[in-house]
Formats: sequence, C-alpha cells, structure tokens
Amino acid sequence: MRPYILLLNGPNLNRLGVRKPKIYGSVQLRDVISNVSQLAETIGVGVVDFQSNSEGALVDFLQEKGPESLGIIINPGALAHYGLSLRDCLEDLSRPTVEVHISNVHQREEFRHKLVLSDVVDGQVVGLGTFGYELAARYLLNLTDPAKN
Ligand code: DQA
Repeated sequence: MRPYILLLNGPNLNRLGVRKPKIYGSVQLRDVISNVSQLAETIGVGVVDFQSNSEGALVDFLQEKGPESLGIIINPGALAHYGLSLRDCLEDLSRPTVEVHISNVHQREEFRHKLVLSDVVDGQVVGLGTFGYELAARYLLNLTDPAKN
C-alpha cells in the first residue's frame, strides 16, 4: 500500500457545513477531505479518512490504521475536552499528530478550554476555520516529503 496520512473527525463533524455555520462555516466535510487529499497527492501520499460519532470506533480505527500511517490529522470534536481513551490511544501510537479545531475553542464556553489531547499531539491549529486542516496536512507532508528530508 502506498504511504498515507489519516484524517479523522469526531462526533458531529459529519454535520460540517450544516451545523452552526456562523461558528463552523459552510464548507462540508467531503470538501475538506477532497482538499487534503489533493494536497497529499502532490507528493504521492494517500489520505485515509474516517468520521465517527463514537469514541470507541475512532480508537478502533486508529489502532488498525495508525501504526502504518505517516501521521494523523484529528479534529476530535467535543472528545477534545474529555476523550481520555482517545488521548491514551494517540499516546500509545506515537505518530506525528496535529489536532485541528475549526472554531477558536479558547474564545468559547469554559468547558471547551480544556484540551485533553494537548500533551500527546505535535501541535494544535485552533480557530482558523477549515483552513486549519490544510495547515495540518502541510505540516505532516513536509515531515515526510522525501524532497525536503
Ligand atoms: C470543534 C470544537 C469542539 O468544542 C466542538 O465540540 C466541535 C467542533 C471545532 O472544530 O471547532 O464539535 O472541535
């Protein structure tokens, strides 16, 4: 199989483009996936995407596809604030990982300020809209681009 990165989205992100467009914008998840895939394609890297509303399903997927991946882009949705089994899974995998939040969680309700994946990800892109996924992809692809390393 050719090299790939993972693009994971947690609960309610299947509703992207429809749910609270003032906060999350009008771009749909399929457009995000297509944009990241096109970017990765430029250096011959594939994108394996997965969205689930269930933490266990995300952990199962990561355990299966994570070890062989070049890196992980993850928008955990609300699991970012309390998803400890997801956090432990990412720690166990120890792959280059970028956490994305479309909205600026630090400017929102208090419960969104706590991000439990912080210490197990390389970095976080917060509040830059769906452009954040592209930035995360550029970071991971730059790490793995044979022309740059
Ligand atoms: C989100 C922020 C979370 O607090 C929220 O629960 C989401 C989306 C974001 O992308 O801004 O579902 O992860």
